[in-house]
Formats: sequence, C-alpha cells, structure tokens
Amino acid sequence: MIIAIDGPAGAGKSTVCRLLAKELGYVYLDTGAMYRALAWALLEEGLTCKEESQWAKYLPDLSLRFAIKEGVLTISYRGKPLDEELRQPEIAQKASRISQSASVRTFLTHWQRTLALDGRIVAEGRDMGTVVFPYAPVKVFLTADLATRTKRRMAQYLEKGISVEYSALEAQIRERDEADQKRALAPLKPAQGALLLDTSGMDISGVMTRLLEFVLEKT
Ligand code: C5P
Repeated sequence: MIIAIDGPAGAGKSTVCRLLAKELGYVYLDTGAMYRALAWALLEEGLTCKEESQWAKYLPDLSLRFAIKEGVLTISYRGKPLDEELRQPEIAQKASRISQSASVRTFLTHWQRTLALDGRIVAEGRDMGTVVFPYAPVKVFLTADLATRTKRRMAQYLEKGISVEYSALEAQIRERDEADQKRALAPLKPAQGALLLDTSGMDISGVMTRLLEFVLEKT
C-alpha cells in the first residue's frame, strides 16, 4: 500500500505526510530530502563542476546511505547523519538543479522503490504518483497559492533560525517550481487520478480530514 503525495515547494506536504504516516502507522518517505542529500554529496565531492553526463559513474560510489529507521528516512554521508544542513535554501536550489539529470533521477528512483519494498508508505515528492509509484492506489496533488506557500516556508525558516527576505524567498520558490514543472524528465504535475487539494486557507486539521477520507475511499 503506497500513498503518493506530490506538489510544489511549501504546499505543506512534509507536515501533512508526516502526520498521515503517523496516524496510519506507515513509513514516511521524504524524497525531496534524498535529492537534497545527493546535491550535498555531489557538492562535497566537487562533482558539480564535472559534466552532468559523467555523474552516473560516480553515483554508486558516493558514501551516501538511505535507510528507514523507526518509520522515517535516515540519510548519512561518509558515516555521518545528514539532516538540518539539508534544509538550507541554497541546497533546495541545488537539488532542483541536479534533479534535471537523468542519471540522478534513475539512481534515486531505484532507491525510492527499494525503500518502499515493504509497503505501507507515505511518499512525498514531485513524481511519486507520475513516475516512481504510478500504481499507488492513493495519489494526491497538494498545492497552495504562492503567497501562502512563501509564508509557510518563511515560518519554517524562522523556526530554524534561518533568516530570509520575503521577496527573495518568493522569487526562489517561484523559480524552483517553474524549473520543476518545465523540466523534461518527471516534471511536477498531478498524476492521473490524483486528488487535487488546494490548501490555501485550510488549516492542517482540515487537510488531514480530507486526506483521511480520501484514503478510506480508495482502500
Ligand atoms: O521537496 P523538496 O523541496 O525538499 O525538494 C527539493 C527539490 O528536489 C525539488 O525542488 C525538486 O527539484 C527535487 N525533487 C524532485 N523529485 C522528487 C523530490 C524532489 O525532483 N521526488
């Protein structure tokens, strides 16, 4: 049983998916964190300056490890856990850039399917319902208007002590969404049969209620 949830940056996917997984006793798989971690590792290894076509041969040898522990994804690089460092705004932009590469997508798609082998998973990202798990019985496309998404992201950054300017953040989010929507491979778009949910003006409990209803309808 796989619940595939896609949508643009700041749509509230992480909060909602984490809660949904907890409520259902499922694993929560944050695939955005995997793209961020790979961007981090490629930068650390100095590979981003190499031709993208060369990355494929280095990817399997990177000391990057993904595992599921106690219901959530854990990531380590060179034996050290990666977590908060992946939340920096620059890493989000880098992740979006590397996510256009075919070798990166193939590598991470394989990992995501492997991590989902035991089933009972809530997977969030940009291509969960369209490419990685097209047969998922529950697919959702979560979105919200740009102002709502920017405010939510701003609040998350403030909570973590990261200072960003509203207009710069809004521009970054707009630019990243456009790149994710327009890329040739696995572009961000609603999967066939997905529930389209615009969460602007909705609170978390309203979103959760609608999602749980949808999960019940589909299972
Ligand atoms: O979800 P998050 O904002 O952490 O994702 C960072 C970036 O990783 C996205 O902007 C997108 O370019 C890429 N990504 C992707 N496919 C996914 C998840 C994330 O291309 N399934």
